Amino acid sequence: MEWWKQTSIYQIYPWSFQDSNGDGIGDLPGIIRRLDQIQDLGVETIWFSPFYRSPGEDFGYDISDYTAIDPRFGTMEDCDKLIREIHKRKMKVVLDMVMNHTSDKHPWFIESKSSKDNPKRDFYIWKKGKNKKPNNWISMVGTSGWNYDKSTDEFYYSNFLSFQPDLNYRNPKVKKAMFGVLDFWLKKGVDGFRLDIFNSIYKDESFKDNPFSLRFFPTPDNHDEAFFQKKTYNLNLPESFLFAKEVRKHISKYKQKPFLIGEVSGSGKVLKSFLGEKADGLNLVFQFELIHFDYHAQFFKELLDKNEKEFPTPFTPTYVLGNHDQRRYIDRLGGDIRKAKVLSAFQFLARGIPVVYYGDEIGRKEGRISNFLGKDPIAKMNRFVPLFLSNLLGIYINRDNCRLPMLWDDGEGAGFTTGKSWLPVGKFLASDTVSGQKKEKNSLWNHYRSLFHLRKNSNVLREGSLHTKQISGSDVLCFERKLGDKVVTVYLNFGDKSWKELLPVNFNLLFSFGGADLREGKLELPGHSGMVTEFRLRK
Ligand code: NOJ
Repeated sequence: MEWWKQTSIYQIYPWSFQDSNGDGIGDLPGIIRRLDQIQDLGVETIWFSPFYRSPGEDFGYDISDYTAIDPRFGTMEDCDKLIREIHKRKMKVVLDMVMNHTSDKHPWFIESKSSKDNPKRDFYIWKKGKNKKPNNWISMVGTSGWNYDKSTDEFYYSNFLSFQPDLNYRNPKVKKAMFGVLDFWLKKGVDGFRLDIFNSIYKDESFKDNPFSLRFFPTPDNHDEAFFQKKTYNLNLPESFLFAKEVRKHISKYKQKPFLIGEVSGSGKVLKSFLGEKADGLNLVFQFELIHFDYHAQFFKELLDKNEKEFPTPFTPTYVLGNHDQRRYIDRLGGDIRKAKVLSAFQFLARGIPVVYYGDEIGRKEGRISNFLGKDPIAKMNRFVPLFLSNLLGIYINRDNCRLPMLWDDGEGAGFTTGKSWLPVGKFLASDTVSGQKKEKNSLWNHYRSLFHLRKNSNVLREGSLHTKQISGSDVLCFERKLGDKVVTVYLNFGDKSWKELLPVNFNLLFSFGGADLREGKLELPGHSGMVTEFRLRK
């Protein structure tokens, strides 16, 4: 089975991981310093949010040079060393690739904007508007996607923020340039790309108005209908599905067998279209159902059943609990570490890829920075919305709050920086940090470490099939993973009450937490605990 179907992914947000020069911003030499620790945790693949040259208005998701390192983070030599050092430790590197748009400071856009007959004009989407916008298309952030440029009297299109103009993939030169960028990094040995808002790559050529929809708020797994619009003509175009195959084919010739993981959203059918009906499109897509978990066994059972039905082998589901755009999951659990252990166990033991956001392994909490004071451009756009109101409505506006610096130790600056941190480190206890939790046997960090290693060392968990079992009258989730004659059974108790069961066969205990116990064939699961057992089928 291909390596990327079995891996685990750990996301690093370079701004906040480890500073090495005291400027308060994380950097590549800082990350290199922490690689031993990441390896010790058991991580297999590291995905980096962008560290390319960028004005930083959207913290790197506004790129002005795809083949240069932003001086905030270091140099190309640091980057080469980072890739080398990761590989030395038998881990893989995935870079974030923002193909949909550039920064408006990118030389391509500066040229494109300079005149209507500039050779780069068609690198972007320009339209005449006759005193009004060319059509009603709304961007993913809820504003009109059209931006007026006075000097050439036309509008350019941006499906995210106005300083992130969308590239025009109907122009073969854009494709060629972007494939060149992929080649540049693949030749350096990177093992894959995370494709930013890949659902937005193509826009419909007819430029027809989008139809009306009753839905206002988008969710991480549904941007298709939002802000009273059905995004028929500016998201999830059939051309984007085809392009997924083209990119896959292009990168497949590299010997490291790289993979693509797409940030897309929509129904199972839409996700499947990006993956390709013959599994020949994007290798993986992020699945965001866990962002809105309902902490009950039934929710997780239904999710597993749905994924087995919609994404059976050779498709590989992904389980995402958080990222740099979402509220930290520990806050969604009210800070309850027992529940965090159950939830993360689910993520690692299901068939598919667990995607872990840095800091989730120590239960790093959200900040409380108001929208008004946010550095995040989305917070700046909505600065007059009070934080309590956006929280109440369940919309996440100030993404600074999930991007706070990593807590390494209880020293000044939490071991993240010796300078003034770009976002506040906030108040914390020694037991909230990596070094504090390493010493504590039952800490969340040690739980994650066990999960990473358990999965890594079990071919049943990495490759085995999955089917759920019905357990009525309790809040216990049970599922089996099978490979050859080996069966791994997972029990997770989402309830407060303890649950007892007599197990009919002789099992080996692989892993347990939260006080779960197996004695003389009798399983006892206290509230919010879990157990993983293994047995061999008789011939
Ligand atoms: C999605 C990224 O995850 C987000 O952080 C970014 O702001 C937008 N795409 C625009 O690139």
